[in-house]
Amino acid sequence: MIQNNFIPVCSPLLAGNELAYITEAVSSGWISSSGSFLQKFENLFANYCGVRFGVGVCNGTMALHLALRALNTKEGDEVIIPDFTMIASAFAVCYTGAKPVFIDADRKTWNIDVKKIEEKITKKTKAIMPVHIFGNMCNMDAIKNIAQKYNLYIVEDAAEAHGSEFNGKKSGSFSDIAAFSFYANKNITTGEGGMVITDNEELYKQVKYFKNLCFPIDGPRNYLHEDIGFNYRMSNLHAAIGLAQTEKADYYRSLRQQNNQLYKKYLFDCNGVIFQKDEKQCLNSNWMNAILIKPEEYGKTRDELIAFLKENNIETRLVFNGMHRQNSLIRYGCDCTNDFPVTDFLSNNGFYLPSGSGLSESDIAYICDLIISFKKLAYKTNSL
Ligand SMILES: Cc1ncc(COP(=O)(O)O)c(C=O)c1O
Repeated sequence: MIQNNFIPVCSPLLAGNELAYITEAVSSGWISSSGSFLQKFENLFANYCGVRFGVGVCNGTMALHLALRALNTKEGDEVIIPDFTMIASAFAVCYTGAKPVFIDADRKTWNIDVKKIEEKITKKTKAIMPVHIFGNMCNMDAIKNIAQKYNLYIVEDAAEAHGSEFNGKKSGSFSDIAAFSFYANKNITTGEGGMVITDNEELYKQVKYFKNLCFPIDGPRNYLHEDIGFNYRMSNLHAAIGLAQTEKADYYRSLRQQNNQLYKKYLFDCNGVIFQKDEKQCLNSNWMNAILIKPEEYGKTRDELIAFLKENNIETRLVFNGMHRQNSLIRYGCDCTNDFPVTDFLSNNGFYLPSGSGLSESDIAYICDLIISFKKLAYKTNSL
């Protein structure tokens, strides 16, 4: 994984039939959104997640938009989302005209704090969008109970959680409809890409309809369009990569899980370094290894450690800023006045360590050695 003495934060691993399938797609001439790889990828991925239907799309953001559109989410509706998430969760709600409503994160799991959801439910609430942060699945039992009690939809943002499980069931299979991203840093990638999955045939048809400019799904292709649709299609070339990736989904997941185990092993007694705590009953697919730095215990701040790692050719990345901090969402009219202390704490102290599937144990040992040695250096400096 070390590339010219540089360890990137996350590179893709394409270790199966990716090249063979993409070559086949090119040779066959099926390079747009028709072609056998798309159907095969949709079927295999949906099957892997334990649901009946999958619709490949151009990225995870649009997968979320389509999922919400299929549920007829519109202006006047509210959708509950975590405050600590990637901006796409919120923007997808905005595209429909509805308003995202934010809930602070849980201090240990970093997922939406389920205890705080009910107080934000109003007559306008249409859906809850749990996001499985870094692969750690939300407590789906609790979220399902709330959704049932208030008759709300669940739209799972599983963009970061390919192959994560809760009570032995895969992410994406707990909700009315779910969205995945296949961006290059994801456990399963197509370069750019996404998928909507669902067990509900009606929603599946709606997603297919809106994804393709509202051409009738079963009717004549007569260029008469009843609704305003979108072109969110995935190409057969991207699907060829996705199929090859999904064939080895468990293998790719195991590599990410191994990274996490190794980081925890090497940093276990490094005071001031905090890991995300897995939700109970969750099998985390460990998309990213984010850590928090507690300066009072570690001896230096998060930003000082990031700078030190950068000097040593280790690429890292900051974790998300809260949705309540986004000027775009403030101007859109979201309620950003509440306090979100846990999100702020995570944003101010967290960052990702290199997490790609191709990391070796010696890469991780080396990164951890640097983190530990910088801490010792920190104590020395402080005691001068
Ligand atoms: C939680 C979450 N939702 C949605 C997305 C959007 O996916 P994409 O980048 O494929 O549009 C991402 C991307 O990483 C994400 O992390």
